[in-house]
Amino acid sequence: MLLTGKIALVTGAARGIGRVTALALAEAGADVAVADVLPDVEETAERIRNSGRRGAAAVFDVADADRVRDGVARLRAALGDFDVLVSGAAIVTNIAPLTKMSAQNWQRELAVNLTGAFNMIQSVIGPMIERGWGRIIVISSGAARGGLHHQAAYAASKAGLIGLVQTVTLEHARHGIACNAILPGLIETELVRMMPAEIRAASTASTPARRLGRMEEVASLIAFLASDNAGFINGAEIDIDGGMRLNTGSLGSRKEVRDRPEGS
Ligand SMILES: NC(=O)c1ccc[n+]([C@@H]2O[C@H](COP(=O)([O-])OP(=O)(O)OC[C@H]3O[C@@H](n4cnc5c(N)ncnc54)[C@H](O)[C@@H]3O)[C@@H](O)[C@H]2O)c1
Repeated sequence: MLLTGKIALVTGAARGIGRVTALALAEAGADVAVADVLPDVEETAERIRNSGRRGAAAVFDVADADRVRDGVARLRAALGDFDVLVSGAAIVTNIAPLTKMSAQNWQRELAVNLTGAFNMIQSVIGPMIERGWGRIIVISSGAARGGLHHQAAYAASKAGLIGLVQTVTLEHARHGIACNAILPGLIETELVRMMPAEIRAASTASTPARRLGRMEEVASLIAFLASDNAGFINGAEIDIDGGMRLNTGSLGSRKEVRDRPEGS
């Protein structure tokens, strides 16, 4: 199997993409530790153990460096040093135009989405450097490139992750550590399924693949990036968005042109 013998740690694994990714890594042969601020993350660990792999869970806030250090130490004591880190914990709760966004909300979103990834990477990278092998996959977003209306903090945090991934690469690719960012478009998670139908429809219409992404598709990209096969992919920004980033401002993206039958 792709990840036999590997030990992985996934943050944001109580639900959504993080949870599906943790289960996919276990299915690919890895032992998997999971972390989240929600206690439901224990259920993810239970499912990993039921699948025949070793699994352990810890509840902590990735923005809190001391809690991260303690939580990662507990998970390491349970499973061993981590070969793979998937940093997925994030919040998207701060939605307001720039003029109305509070400094407090801005700072919290940066603290979870950007500083959280920094805290996690710092807490696992030591043994990776010593062993000369590691895989770090950071879940950024298409918002890192194009921004998002009324989500300045989210977009800035996701863009910041790219600089973090690039710098980890400059400093540690030589130690056998491949660190990459993935940039999903709209993925059909439990929360996205609860979004208003018109928002999902607009997003589908502006995506060349004409559908939302599936969590399993993101998870299988991450499983590949976590494997031995991906060692020469370093500091990359990998889109997984059905082509959503292309042509968004062009004439061909307009509804009347887009929906015209082929050849007319
Ligand atoms: N769903 C999408 O369309 C989409 C698109 C682009 C990027 N992403 C990114 O993918 C990742 C997963 O997104 P999702 O849609 O599954 O979201 P989600 O909200 O379902 O999952 C995020 C998880 O992170 C956890 N979390 C939040 N704050 C935390 C904290 N301070 N400490 C620890 N854990 C915390 C949450 O409890 C939750 O379990 C996120 O980084 C998100 O920004 C998602």
